[in-house]
Amino acid sequence: MSTDQPTRRRLERMDDLVSLCARRGFIFPSSEIYGGINGFWDYGPLGAELKQNLKALWWQRVVRQRPDVEGIDSAIIAHPRTWEASGHVEHFSDPMVDCKTCKRRFRADQIEDERCPEAPKKRAITDCDLTDPRNFNLMLQTQIGASSEAASTAYLRAETCQPIFNDFKRVREAARQKIPFGIAQIGKAFRNEINPRNFTFRSREFEQAELEFFVHPSEREKWFEHWQEERLAFHRELGFDDDHLRTRPHASDELAHYARAAVDVEYLFPFGWQEIEGIHDRGDWDLSRHSEYSGKDLGVTDPDTKEHYMPMVIETSVGIDRTVLALLCDAYSEEEVGEGDTRLVMHFPAGLAPLDVAVLPLSKKLAEPAHALEESLRRRFNVFYDEAGNIGRRYRRQDEAGTPFCVTIDFDTADDGKVTLRDRDSMSQDRVALEGVAAWLSERLEA
Ligand code: GLY
Repeated sequence: MSTDQPTRRRLERMDDLVSLCARRGFIFPSSEIYGGINGFWDYGPLGAELKQNLKALWWQRVVRQRPDVEGIDSAIIAHPRTWEASGHVEHFSDPMVDCKTCKRRFRADQIEDERCPEAPKKRAITDCDLTDPRNFNLMLQTQIGASSEAASTAYLRAETCQPIFNDFKRVREAARQKIPFGIAQIGKAFRNEINPRNFTFRSREFEQAELEFFVHPSEREKWFEHWQEERLAFHRELGFDDDHLRTRPHASDELAHYARAAVDVEYLFPFGWQEIEGIHDRGDWDLSRHSEYSGKDLGVTDPDTKEHYMPMVIETSVGIDRTVLALLCDAYSEEEVGEGDTRLVMHFPAGLAPLDVAVLPLSKKLAEPAHALEESLRRRFNVFYDEAGNIGRRYRRQDEAGTPFCVTIDFDTADDGKVTLRDRDSMSQDRVALEGVAAWLSERLEA
């Protein structure tokens, strides 16, 4: 069996990925039967598994492996004062311009080189009759209360970290943690983006995995460096090549209102270098502001020196949907496999792939032993069973899903007690004893 690497064509056009994702059920527009809703996406069976695996790896590396980090799961809606204290009510806005002719709204900082979708001959937006830029707050609002008269306005959280600051004192005391330590959570956040675009990259509802690490002011630089190294190592573990991954420090005029310093981890998408994670030195902005707005002192007292101080915060904030999108772009590959044949294969790292293994009986007559193997493997692995169609087409379907291994049961299995294990990347095949299949898979999936 040849293990030569086939000629590989990486993803160049996002449309190819968008169409694969819809066809195979990774990701598709939310409420598709009503024509979709701009900036909202649903993850289907394969996408949900991929996302779940990414979140589990983050939780393992950032929370479970570290004695100095605690995990929480907060409510999406916080007391509205939270967002006044955080500065979001005042500062969390984008400068917008409206076209006086077609009434469309654009982000003022994103119209350079863009064409107006309404104007004849698609003239440059900058040549349209535009209003002066005005600030537009990005927080999504909702009403809480039984009747509209009594209802009060609340916000869907714009970032998952603010509840962490609200909970800082409670979690530190309950978990008996001392500075330096961190609090982490994964969850949904919402931003009323004017111009959602680039598939799921800029969405109105998205998932973040954030860590807020609280340190003594004298140690902030050390921990800022530490978390940059940790997070870059995480993205390398996801299999991203060095030439598709970089860090980029923010210039002082790009810093968010809470940040004293920031470094983005960027991935090279087909639409250019874009942020998938931000690492921020937030100073004491959040704890000081929440102390002021709540009237509760969130400062800490050093048990040895008795110094009372406000901890500084180093934040790592990764976009889960953006990282899933980077994984999809990175995995995508169109390959010539000889005799004019091609295949589309998703080269996900084994532990992150939506499925671990597919069980494929060569004939429906072999369904009984195949189901027995499927059932035994389901206890440890994410298994797909498929007995329909010719074996070549079934392998191709698993290549598109990114399933790292397929097990084929054939008519010799009953005689020699062996099955064929096929490797997605090399397409090489191994004959393995039935009772050794689980160990064979574990060895490779855990590696
Ligand atoms: N918490 C930082 C961010 O949402 O970008």
